[in-house]
Amino acid sequence: MPIRSTVILGTGSYAPERVLTNGELSHTVDTSDEWIRTRSGIRERRIAAPDEATSDMAVQAARRALEDARLAAADIDLLVVATMTPDLPMPAVACIIQQKLGVRTAAACFDLNAACSGFVYALDTACAMIASGRYQKALVIGVEKLSTIVDWQDRTTCVLFGDGAGAAVIGASSEPGIGLIGTRLGASGDSVDLLYISHGGSSAPSTAESIAARAHCMRMKGKEVFKQAVRVMDDAAREILEQHQLHADQISHVIPHQANLRIIEAISQYLELPMDRFFVNVDRYGNTSAASIPIALDEARRAGRIKPGDLTLLVAFGAGLTYGSALIRW
Ligand code: COA
Repeated sequence: MPIRSTVILGTGSYAPERVLTNGELSHTVDTSDEWIRTRSGIRERRIAAPDEATSDMAVQAARRALEDARLAAADIDLLVVATMTPDLPMPAVACIIQQKLGVRTAAACFDLNAACSGFVYALDTACAMIASGRYQKALVIGVEKLSTIVDWQDRTTCVLFGDGAGAAVIGASSEPGIGLIGTRLGASGDSVDLLYISHGGSSAPSTAESIAARAHCMRMKGKEVFKQAVRVMDDAAREILEQHQLHADQISHVIPHQANLRIIEAISQYLELPMDRFFVNVDRYGNTSAASIPIALDEARRAGRIKPGDLTLLVAFGAGLTYGSALIRW
C-alpha cells in the first residue's frame, strides 16, 4: 500500500465548567496561591462534574474537532483515545465514545496509555495507520478525568492536575512534505517509580485497606520528575530536529506538554528559543495529562497563531517515563 502524507483536518477541545482556583485549594490543604503559582505557574484548573465521565468530555472535544474538519462522526473509520482515566477498566473508553458520538460500527476503536505523552503516541499511531492506506479518517483524542485519581489530601500532587479533553481529526494528503513530517517516541522504564498508582491493577488489586490508604491515587517524586522531564523533553526535541536537519530557529511554535511553567521555561532556554514561540495555558488548566497537548494545539489554532507553512513542534513527557516529539508542517 502507498505511504501517504497525513494531515490534521480539524481540532477541538473541551474543559469542564467548574473552575478550582489556588485560593480554594488553600482552604482544603496546607498550600497557598503564591506557592502554587511560583512553583508551577498554575492559577486554576477545571474539574469535571461527578456525573461527567471521561467519555462525555471526549465527545464534546471530538464534536468540535469534527465540526472544524467539516466531517461527520460517520466519516471516521479509526478512533484512538489516549487516556489513563477511562470510564471503566473495560471495555475501552474508545468504544463508549464511538457509541455516544455515532462513529460507525465497523470503525477500529481502541485506547492507548502513555500517560502525559499519550496524545503524541496516539497521533503517531493513527497517522501511521492512515499513511498505510488502510484507514481514511481518524479521530485522535487525549482526555483525562484526573480528579478521580488525585489524592486531594496530598498537597504535593493535588495542586498540579486538572480535567479536560482535546481532539484532532486526521486524514491523508497526496501533497508531500506537509502534515505530520516526523515523530520521535521513547520511554525509560527504569523510572516507573517516579510517578505511579500502586493499587487497583493486576499486581495489587484494590482492597478496603488500600482504598482507605488512598493507594488508588497518584504518587510522585516531584523533584526527580522535574529533572527528568527537562532532560527528556530537550532530547526529544533535539533528536527530531536533527533527524529532519532542522534548526530550532526554524520552528514557528512549540506546543509543549503543560505540566509546569518552569519546565517549559527550561526547555525554552535549552533550545535557545524565546518563550513567545511556546504556547502556554498551564495557568488556566494545570496538567491535564494526555489532554494537555491537544487542548493547547486547539487553542493555538483557534487564536490564529498557526498559519499555512508554519512548523509546529509538539513535545511531551509523562509517567513511565514516556516521552515523545512530533513535527507538523501546516
Ligand atoms: N504548597 C506548599 N508547600 C508545598 C506544596 C504545596 N502544594 N507541595 C510541596 N510543598 C513543600 C514541600 O513539602 C517542601 O517543603 P520542605 O522543604 O519543608 O520539605 C517544599 O514545599 C519544597 O518542595 P519541593 O518538592 O522541593 O518543591 P519544588 O520546587 O521541587 O516544586 C513541584 C515541586 C512538584 C512543583 C515540582 O517538583 C514539579 O513540578 N515537578 C514535576 C511534576 C510534574 O511535572 N509531574 C507531572 C509529570 S507528567
